[in-house]
Amino acid sequence: MTDAASAVAGALARRFGETVNVPPSTAGLDELLRIATHVTHRRWADRPVPDDLVRLLAACALSAPSKSDLQQADIVQVRDPARLDAIAALVPQMPWVRGAPAFLVFCGDGRRFRRIFARRGQPFVNEHLDAFFNPAVDAALVLMNFIRAAEAAGLACCPISVLRDRATELSAILELPEHVFPVAGLCAGYPAAALSVNPRLSLKASFHIDRFDDEDTDALLDEFDERWALARAQRGGPASAPPPAPVPAVGPRWSDEKAKQYSVAQRADWGAFVRAKGFGLD
Ligand SMILES: Cc1cc2nc3c(=O)[nH]c(=O)nc-3n(C[C@H](O)[C@H](O)[C@H](O)COP(=O)(O)O)c2cc1C
Repeated sequence: MTDAASAVAGALARRFGETVNVPPSTAGLDELLRIATHVTHRRWADRPVPDDLVRLLAACALSAPSKSDLQQADIVQVRDPARLDAIAALVPQMPWVRGAPAFLVFCGDGRRFRRIFARRGQPFVNEHLDAFFNPAVDAALVLMNFIRAAEAAGLACCPISVLRDRATELSAILELPEHVFPVAGLCAGYPAAALSVNPRLSLKASFHIDRFDDEDTDALLDEFDERWALARAQRGGPASAPPPAPVPAVGPRWSDEKAKQYSVAQRADWGAFVRAKGFGLD
């Protein structure tokens, strides 16, 4: 196996706890390795990210496919220290927001689309859930494309959807008008240290052939809980390091953490915020 092929296979084994065949002749192994070794970072090197680079990455990000070519996503790069402070103050539990060398907010934009109709004096007859869903999906694709581009350029990122807990305040800080809503913030910077990849549920749980099948969900959750706890106990090696040797698992498991995290209602006012932005959600 070539170095690149074995690096991809190693990263995926660490991620999924199972073997994924990586033929050495596969095209694009360098890019696949970058995708396979993706890690969210929350600590940044003391190195600025030039605005020109952010603009370049934004242009690459906005090259993402767009539903019906409607182009319903926008990026707001926040440079003004006062606005950055105000945004960081909304999420004090996430200090990596204020410390990030670059910070952006990815928005769904149903405004321009409606403007086309207003300019023609034509009624907008699609005021229903799909008209909200489409910009949300477009914005998510642009967000992902930005992360992909940033990681290719040697940066690391951390999306910040917790900002939607304070969507009204964020909207005021960024002056987001009617029909424009935040999907997520994004911290970007050069990473402070290498991190190992985070595990994911087995492909048996999330990759289906021909028909959806979740018969083994309980066993697959148990398997992932075990693997997640082991990885957490051993976290810290480089992203493409080989799978860790088993050690006794300690601490809570993934299912425990997620059940705890969502044991209180979160963002129950999101629907009200979106309706107040002018979207009909029926
Ligand atoms: C849409 C979205 C929103 C996220 N929001 C936050 C956030 O508010 N704060 C944070 O620290 N991480 C956030 N993350 C990062 C996830 O916690 C991270 O992707 C997940 O733990 C898996 O880790 P990995 O990306 O290193 O594989 C978000 C990720 C996504 C895709």
